[in-house]
Amino acid sequence: LIISILALATTLMFAQGKKEDKSGYIFASDATWPPLEFVENGQLTGFEVELMPLIGEKVGTQMSVKNIPWDTIFAGLANGAYDGVASGVTVTEERKASMDFSTPILTAGQVVIIRSSDSAKVKGIGDLTNKKIGVQIGTTGDFALENYPVQRKAYDDIGLAIEDLLNGNVDAAVCDSLIASDFVLANENYKNRLMVAGAPFTEEDIAIAVQKGNKTLLDLINKGLELAKADGSFDALKQKWNLL
Ligand code: ARG
Repeated sequence: LIISILALATTLMFAQGKKEDKSGYIFASDATWPPLEFVENGQLTGFEVELMPLIGEKVGTQMSVKNIPWDTIFAGLANGAYDGVASGVTVTEERKASMDFSTPILTAGQVVIIRSSDSAKVKGIGDLTNKKIGVQIGTTGDFALENYPVQRKAYDDIGLAIEDLLNGNVDAAVCDSLIASDFVLANENYKNRLMVAGAPFTEEDIAIAVQKGNKTLLDLINKGLELAKADGSFDALKQKWNLL
């Protein structure tokens, strides 16, 4: 009996240890982008934070998300600090040169956020010539401004650009439509003071990025997505985060 108890204990310990080693696939996410990824009461949460474990579950493997600042997120992917990036990433030709993308999970477009008091004169990006616009550095919102005669002010965190907009330090902020509505509507403090001016002025696909050539992981993600779309769990998650 003692021997079998010892054997059982050893087996359990071994299984436990193995489980700890095999933490599954890790995805980086810059948690400044509600409702896709953000921190609430000290906890990382949001659509993509829940989507990755769901995808993993569908293909029988563990997938989880950790908080990594946007400005180093693609460098970390390239040098293998994690397996992928699930951070509201727009599929672009430039990025495709150095990473691979899953099938799209969402679509988005860049929009202009302004102070409500400016709503009569600013109807969209075309009304902001020579004005100062806040963006998150290295995002497609940042890149989109190159096509317009505006002054760009780059921030590490779009939340800081929004604060500067409220303080009058910039005239507008530009970010993904999905995030803009959350920032403007979900926050009691901003709701009456900020608004989205006009329709999105770009069209973008959002997808999960993996290291270039990591076909094994890409196939797993795409398979998991396909299964989650087919059984309704993908749409249920979108619904939960007001993304339907
Ligand atoms: N969609 C934009 C891009 O890919 C912005 C994404 C920013 N994501 C974030 N979690 N801060 O450039």
